[in-house]
Amino acid sequence: MKRALPTEGRTIDDDCFEPRPRVRWLAPSVLARTVMPVLLSGLFAKFGDRREVEAVLEQSVIDVSTDGDPASPQELEEMWIDYLADTGDGFSATATLASVLARKTLDVPALEGGGVHATRAGSLLVLGGDQVYPFASPEDYTDRFTGPFRAMLPYEEPGRKIVALPGNHDWYDGLTAFLQVFCGRDWIGGWKAVQRRSYFALKLPKRWWLWGIDIQLDTYIDHPQIEYFKKAAAEVKPGDGIILCWAVPSWVHLGEAKAQAYATLDFFQRRIVPNHANLRVSLTGDSHHYARYEGPTREQKITAGIGGAFTAPTHHLPDKLLLPPNEGSEPITFTRRCEYPTCPDSKALRSGVLSAIYQNDGFPVLPGLAYGAMALAVTGRSKVTSWVAGSAIGGLLVGGCVVFSQSEKVRECLPGILHGSAHVAASLAAAGVLRRATSGWREPRRAATAFFGAGLVGAAAGSALFAAYLVAADRKDTYRRNTNELYAAMALEDNVGFLRLHIRPDGDLDIYPIKIDEVVRWERDGCWDHPPKAPKFKVRAGPGPKPELIESPITVTREPAAKAEAGQR
Ligand SMILES: [Fe+2]
Repeated sequence: MKRALPTEGRTIDDDCFEPRPRVRWLAPSVLARTVMPVLLSGLFAKFGDRREVEAVLEQSVIDVSTDGDPASPQELEEMWIDYLADTGDGFSATATLASVLARKTLDVPALEGGGVHATRAGSLLVLGGDQVYPFASPEDYTDRFTGPFRAMLPYEEPGRKIVALPGNHDWYDGLTAFLQVFCGRDWIGGWKAVQRRSYFALKLPKRWWLWGIDIQLDTYIDHPQIEYFKKAAAEVKPGDGIILCWAVPSWVHLGEAKAQAYATLDFFQRRIVPNHANLRVSLTGDSHHYARYEGPTREQKITAGIGGAFTAPTHHLPDKLLLPPNEGSEPITFTRRCEYPTCPDSKALRSGVLSAIYQNDGFPVLPGLAYGAMALAVTGRSKVTSWVAGSAIGGLLVGGCVVFSQSEKVRECLPGILHGSAHVAASLAAAGVLRRATSGWREPRRAATAFFGAGLVGAAAGSALFAAYLVAADRKDTYRRNTNELYAAMALEDNVGFLRLHIRPDGDLDIYPIKIDEVVRWERDGCWDHPPKAPKFKVRAGPGPKPELIESPITVTREPAAKAEAGQR
């Protein structure tokens, strides 16, 4: 339902929403519901690319460089922009960030020399992807993104602007809900959506540009999008600065020897970004941490997927990236300057999975069923039957663990084989103890006792064994596996933040990386008067969000100081 607001033409969707808890990624219900959208999204990508359809929607360069006066627009003297990625998981984290973004001003303590940095809210909010978890649907967008944002900033005059790039989770319904939410030029609380397509070229003041590229599911860039950016490139003047928003940290993936992951970005940088422009900053989310790499001309490549989804590790990030050169020149080295959480903190977090594994609603049922089935199999009356059934279940357990370890080569299967074998040994041990304990009992009492007894062992010890495997697999650099599952299993919602960008009157760009170490709990506090019925929230207990700098602000000049040193891109 749409309600008219006093400002002419301004509407807002129904304000009702249900605050959702953070996603428990290893809960069987989530696992079961994730499989189909992931598979279908691949089909959507291949056979029904929505970007081809949205190309009928007219969209030229979006000019946000002026004060918007229709009679005689004046270029802005300065501009503040907020960048937030991977939000839309649990309400507490999303609302914490939305509440800080909503503040008109924000003073953050300086890390050196005392004092504070006085910052202002972005008149433009750029969303870097994954605005909803775990699946995209209109209800999920309402509950997990638009609802919390409206609650924290239901209205503002004259309003701020918002643009969004889709991440892989936004693509899980083929982009249908994303286009509804972000491409209809509607309002989300105090922010007005200004894009018509899932990608955009924004003209900023002081000869800066911000380009957001939709790479679908990390595959390729569609032809209409390439044509769109070629037209935008024609408006870029020599010496203009470009901020590129990408959906995944392809530059880090290249460092992980996934050369193909970098190919699309490399193509775009070489063929679409004009040679006479200066690509000075690349921003992305997808990995739920902060990591900043700096090139020889102080070009920045920043991952800032700290918008509230589960914390991802930083201790596996490479210290240096060697990015492909143009023909005849040397590779360009980017050096890691800062990360959040810090590497020691990131490592220290992982042992928390040993207790957090039980908070994945219903996860212990999975090893419980496996152990129970094994006990049932080996307590059969016939030795042959027991041997065959036990071998089959053991094979499934080992095979399942190998598949789970995502090993691509035979020699990489060892951790999965060891993990599966440990479960087989533990389930056989539980079955053996129960068989002896129930010797002489009648069927089906004996079988039922074996199944439920071993099932309990599996739920408790099997889950612990699984968690121990996740920790061990992450510690071994030579066989590192399942790091994403390790941190997803913990669903850590702290260590969040965003980037605040400031185009200064002198044309330089300051980047403030802002963190909030602890997410705040909220409770309803009546309704805003305007618009009617929008729920208001207050901090449940204790202090509110405490924004701080991850590192001192990074100043980027539009013109690289020594481009010749860096070679050609
Ligand atoms: Fe994400």
